Amino acid sequence: MVEKADIKWSELRFGYLKCEYRFISNFKNGKWDDGVLTTDDYLRIHEGSTALHYGQQCFEGLKAYTTKDGRILLFRPDRNAARMKSSCEQLLMAVYPEEKFIEACVKVVKANEKFVPPYGSGASLYLRPYLIGVGENVGVRPAPEYLFGIFVTPVGPYFKGGLAPCHFTIANYDRAAPRGTGGVKVGGNYAASLKAHKEAVDAGFSDCIYLDPATQTNIEEVGAANFFAITADNTFVTPKSPSILPSITKYSLMHIAEHYLGMKVVEREIPVTSLGEFVEAGACGTAAVISPIGSITNKGHRYSFYGEGKEVGPKTKELYRILTSIQNGDMEGPAGWVIEAK
Ligand code: PLP
Ligand code: COI
Repeated sequence: MVEKADIKWSELRFGYLKCEYRFISNFKNGKWDDGVLTTDDYLRIHEGSTALHYGQQCFEGLKAYTTKDGRILLFRPDRNAARMKSSCEQLLMAVYPEEKFIEACVKVVKANEKFVPPYGSGASLYLRPYLIGVGENVGVRPAPEYLFGIFVTPVGPYFKGGLAPCHFTIANYDRAAPRGTGGVKVGGNYAASLKAHKEAVDAGFSDCIYLDPATQTNIEEVGAANFFAITADNTFVTPKSPSILPSITKYSLMHIAEHYLGMKVVEREIPVTSLGEFVEAGACGTAAVISPIGSITNKGHRYSFYGEGKEVGPKTKELYRILTSIQNGDMEGPAGWVIEAK
């Protein structure tokens, strides 16, 4: 076991802290090279790169955790590899092979072992794989070459306060179009979300919630996280829509709700006007983990959840406990959910 870096782990927020190594691989003449670990945190790419002009790029986010006995676990990297493949297919980019994606994650985590936050610190190592179109070009067409990289950074909670209720408002804009790229993890969706996010934060909220872009009636996503809510009769409900990102955390929580907590699980449309049905609500994602939702404000109407929006509900607490226990190795999860970086 290597000695951990001298970092105040428990004070970390969701920010960038330079680690020693990152992984880079190049796709040229129809094939990927073997890839290297490098200490250089800058890329040198052609000025005509499609990633710069036409947003031909995608990314992923996943985390590594230190277990009580000092091992390092990655949570469901196979799901991120598969989702990056679908993002690449949607934007006509070269796919980075899924097996090699997982190997590269392990390699870069091992190389940065001292930056993987210790067990019990409340922090984790965030991995940011990305794949961008590069090379000489000017027309609107797929790039001649691609670059796949992964950098890592230790992070703390995404929303202030960790497992404490946050307050949200309905967005003034859409993040994705009905038949657009909402279901894949591409940068354009996030560029489109910056203004909506700023307006929500300026109005005193943690973030905004997007409605379905076609009808503006159903809940879609919570900023850069998925949405779930819980009814008084123990049902875990989460939106079904082609324009939301299929969240790995959300599908993990659906499994936990059903198989560990005996809840009924439903993916369906959730009209914003039906929010009064729910006793608990939350945002879920790799960065967000689970952020309990205290309230949602829509056109001046405030829907509050557990304890008048001031407390974390018991089901949300249980979901959080089981998810994080599986992630840090305290509890055994379903087969294949965690892999050891060794
Ligand atoms: N929705 C959006 C828009 C996101 O950026 C993320 C983050 O990855 C999520 C949902 C949650 O997905 P996951 O649980 O796979 O991290
Ligand atoms: C993630 O949870 O991995 C995200 O992508 C959220 C965000 C920081 C973009």
